[in-house]
Amino acid sequence: MLANFVQATYIVAGILFILALAGLSRFETSKRGNAFGILGMLLAVAATIVAVWGPEAWRGDDWGAQMPSFIGGGGVLPLVLLIVAMLAGALIGLIKAARVEMTGMPQLIAQLHSFVGLAAVLIGFNVFIEVRHELVAGFLVPDAGFHLAEIWIGVFIGAVTFTGSIVAWGKLAEKISSRPLTLPGRNLINLATVIAIIACGVWFQNSYSWIPLILLTLLSLFLGFHLVAAIGGADMPVVISMLNSYSGFAAAFSGFALGMNVLIITGALVGASGAILSYIMCRAMNRSFISVILGGFGATTAVQGDGPAGEIQEIKADELAALLADAKSVMITPGYGMAVAQAQYPVAELTKRLTDAGVEVRFAIHPVAGRLPGHMNVLLAEAHVPYDIVFEMDEVNDEFDQTDVVLVIGANDTVNPTAMEPGTPISGMPVLHVWEAKKVVVFKRSMKPGYAGVENPLFFNENTYMLFGDAKASVDNINNALPAADGRAAIGA
Ligand code: TAP
Repeated sequence: MLANFVQATYIVAGILFILALAGLSRFETSKRGNAFGILGMLLAVAATIVAVWGPEAWRGDDWGAQMPSFIGGGGVLPLVLLIVAMLAGALIGLIKAARVEMTGMPQLIAQLHSFVGLAAVLIGFNVFIEVRHELVAGFLVPDAGFHLAEIWIGVFIGAVTFTGSIVAWGKLAEKISSRPLTLPGRNLINLATVIAIIACGVWFQNSYSWIPLILLTLLSLFLGFHLVAAIGGADMPVVISMLNSYSGFAAAFSGFALGMNVLIITGALVGASGAILSYIMCRAMNRSFISVILGGFGATTAVQGDGPAGEIQEIKADELAALLADAKSVMITPGYGMAVAQAQYPVAELTKRLTDAGVEVRFAIHPVAGRLPGHMNVLLAEAHVPYDIVFEMDEVNDEFDQTDVVLVIGANDTVNPTAMEPGTPISGMPVLHVWEAKKVVVFKRSMKPGYAGVENPLFFNENTYMLFGDAKASVDNINNALPAADGRAAIGA
């Protein structure tokens, strides 16, 4: 029977999504995980097309009860609408994915979350049109109370995700300031808005009227904007994974409203994994999960003084090449600038040449380096840097004092010692203790601060040298300055 086939395919798709998440948790299995996810999505889409297209004779008696509500009676018109919508979505997705730079990924992800949020709002409205029609006509709608609750909760989470993701996109794309918006009494404003949304939900539940639904949509849109606007630049990693989680729960509620199991499974997986990731990132950044969710509740306001000052020391690529040749141990701490410059390939080349010459080279990766979780690991894997020399911050943070040279390649906030003092947007965030090494070389183009806008006193330390310029060009120059022959003696040790 067609209904059983469609439901069974949805369950297989759900299992493939679980396998996809399991695979994506480790580098070695991530490609396989991705393949499972793609296959699951193909099956889910194919099953939905079959459900809409399937001839009536193939349907069982309980077709209506088993199928998502939007499939209705099926037929040619719904099939055409479905295919047109899918083609339009696929085309937009293809164009976006083809154009996006690796550095633009977080912005794209924020945009995609906003689409999920908007879709959840529209699905909620659509299902309400159907349910209301039946209620007003006096039909008995089984579990009407549940349906109405699914609708307003889905619309609420979807609207918060929609505006929250747009603000996150604006902050990441530097279209709006990444500084936190600190309205007076902002926590009270959030609390009052949530209470008003719940009150509208209760009103909606009892009246099945459009007025409370529209009101709660507007309030939720405001709440999403205000929650994310109140979060400062350095906490944006948590916001992105949190919005990812919200978009999952919004999709799950849409799944309940539509009676579509595969959407409930997928949404719950995304929601739960996003929540776990947010929690892990909060711990890594020494932030309270609750305070970030509540929009920077209790966050310190930035106290920007005149910033550190003093003399800086510059170094040229050939001088650095000689320094590296003399070193026994080198630690590389990459950051967002490595991604902007696409310097991972010459960095991999430099790593190979130094390792071949007997220098111990390791990478220290800060959990929020770059602009998306795992950003640096992805870039290094892309350039075939061996996994076993790439370490998490906690694994090597005590070892900088035994390191001869640290190369800070396009990192700034993640190596800023100011984080260890109170009163700045990055205060409390653990940072890489690069300044404890014998020598530190910072690769950047100017003296500008990092993403959080906090000046970095590291640049003025006695053991710090600045190598100004694009990181890729600088590392290329170092590679050119190193003699081609392999072996430690050959590069001047
Ligand atoms: P940032 O603090 O963003 O600093 C990057 C540095 O790279 C800048 O100082 C910039 O200086 C330099 N740079 C940019 N382009 C360069 C180029 N082509 N060549 C050489 N240098 C270049 O980097 P970070 O240490 O990785 O810290 C990440 C920050 O982003 C944290 O505040 C984190 O909270 C935030 N954030 C992270 C995420 C995730 S999930 N990882 C998401 C959102 C926000 P110049 O302009 O002078 O060159």
